[in-house]
Amino acid sequence: MDFKDKSVVITGAGSGIGAALARRAAILGARVCVSDLDGAKAQAVADEIGGMAVPCDVRDEAQIQALVAQASAAQGDIDIYVSNAGLGGGEPSHAASQTDETWTLNWQVHVMSHVYASRALLPGMIARKSGYLVNVASAAGLLNQIGDAAYSATKHAAVSFAESLAITHGAEGIGVSVVCPQYVATPLLGLSDVDAATQESLLTADDVALAITNGVEAGRFLILSHPVVQTYARHRAQDHDRWITGMQMLRAKAQDTFGGIEISSFYKLV
Ligand SMILES: NC(=O)c1ccc[n+]([C@@H]2O[C@H](COP(=O)([O-])OP(=O)(O)OC[C@H]3O[C@@H](n4cnc5c(N)ncnc54)[C@H](O)[C@@H]3O)[C@@H](O)[C@H]2O)c1
Repeated sequence: MDFKDKSVVITGAGSGIGAALARRAAILGARVCVSDLDGAKAQAVADEIGGMAVPCDVRDEAQIQALVAQASAAQGDIDIYVSNAGLGGGEPSHAASQTDETWTLNWQVHVMSHVYASRALLPGMIARKSGYLVNVASAAGLLNQIGDAAYSATKHAAVSFAESLAITHGAEGIGVSVVCPQYVATPLLGLSDVDAATQESLLTADDVALAITNGVEAGRFLILSHPVVQTYARHRAQDHDRWITGMQMLRAKAQDTFGGIEISSFYKLV
């Protein structure tokens, strides 16, 4: 689906990949609703691109329903909904050391937000035989993020849910894409475009926004801004034990290089 004259909603669009995608969708001719937990950030991006802003906490189904209703009323039935809001953190020590609150937060933001959005949008999209759902997961949803088990597990669930959407609703004219970037220089990692200029493996938010619009225009399910992820995923599928050994070696290398597990520095090793 192309973006011209389309009604688009993007969550988590006050920053990083979501903000870059909002700018790009507007350039491509879409009417864009910029949504974020942080209403001021959403408003700033909306002002920049001549779009509308709606504050929304994607953990809350009622707020997602209100977002869909407000955006539909103002800019027409939603053609493309990008469920992009996300967060990262890492874990204090061992792989089960993160608190229940953080596991629940990851589950709500990375999985249930996609379920709530689909629940709000699918009946209308099925009736219209048209619509496109884009769920931003992560390479961690195909592979693993060393040092963040809650992020990895919930991003895997996000990929699985996107597969279910695509399998169930493809024949009804509904497009589905899942976006699985590796490292991107955004506030989530405390990185900027200056860092991205230092290493090829670290992309800018604009690079990922371009990959997303190209992928949606081509109707591609799996959008990989970092093509090397395909190779890693193939290695994992071919020999899971060997892949685990490789990941153990990468973890040991990170500890030797950084003196600990610094998620924001992993891009220097891949
Ligand atoms: N940066 C990376 O390296 C990277 C890699 C792979 C995947 N991703 C994914 O890309 C997406 C965007 O991340 P980013 O890197 O642009 O990060 P970012 O921190 O720049 O932006 C994330 C936005 O999500 C918003 N948000 C957080 N919780 C929310 C909630 N409950 N409700 C609504 N909005 C909320 C934040 O306010 C923020 O504006 C996330 O899903 C992230 O997991 C990022």
